[in-house]
Amino acid sequence: MRQFSVIFKVILCILVQFQVAIADDPYRFYTWVVTYGPISPLGTVQQGILINGQFPGPRIDCVTNDNIVLNVINQLDEPFLLTWNGIKQRKNSWQDGVLGTNCPIPPNSNYTYNFQTKDQIGSFTYFPTVGMHRASGGFGALNVYQRPAIPVPYLKPDGDFTLLVGDWYKAGHKALRQILDSGSSLPPPDGLLINGAQSTGFNGDQGKHTFLGFLTLGWRPQLISESKAILSN
Ligand SMILES: *[C@@H]1O[C@H](CO)[C@@H](O)[C@H](O)[C@H]1NC(C)=O
Repeated sequence: MRQFSVIFKVILCILVQFQVAIADDPYRFYTWVVTYGPISPLGTVQQGILINGQFPGPRIDCVTNDNIVLNVINQLDEPFLLTWNGIKQRKNSWQDGVLGTNCPIPPNSNYTYNFQTKDQIGSFTYFPTVGMHRASGGFGALNVYQRPAIPVPYLKPDGDFTLLVGDWYKAGHKALRQILDSGSSLPPPDGLLINGAQSTGFNGDQGKHTFLGFLTLGWRPQLISESKAILSN
């Protein structure tokens, strides 16, 4: 009898192990409503593109191999499309959100992105890819953290900050588009935004490790060197 019990336990263990091995990676579900709304990142009110009322859009925090199911409801008066910049989209390039692989989401309709952050760790961005919408908003940060089982070459951070840096125009995407359509080139930007504002603050305790995600999203190549200057100040 005892022998049977042991065999039973062994079989149960094998089954449990197997179950763990075949379990699906976790799913994260989001619903994002994209609207126009007033923002004033440089002091004057302008029409921004908001996601769930936010500028910049909500930050996605997920873990390697998570499945993202994200329903984007476009309430703008123009087709809208988001890309997940840096996410490899292995075997599903049609989730990448750029013209040629994805159709823009028509006004007053929705599309559900479905992708996996497969074998990736890092700080990424998402942003609109059509209509110069990125000049009015609709962008944000996408952090992929490591699974607990995966060792990383740094200590567990005590703090975690994501900085989203980009140059900015007060004019908004429609006016900027008109400038380009008329054959002119874009004027110099009006300012630089950090997390949607002219400045931002964060504290890291001395001697402790702080994780800093530094993401740039801009219109001019100089942005990178300007961003480095910000970081060193
Ligand atoms: C549109 O959104 C509804 C819920 O708001 C959802 O049930 C439906 O699957 C979505 N359609 C697409 C194509 O994503």
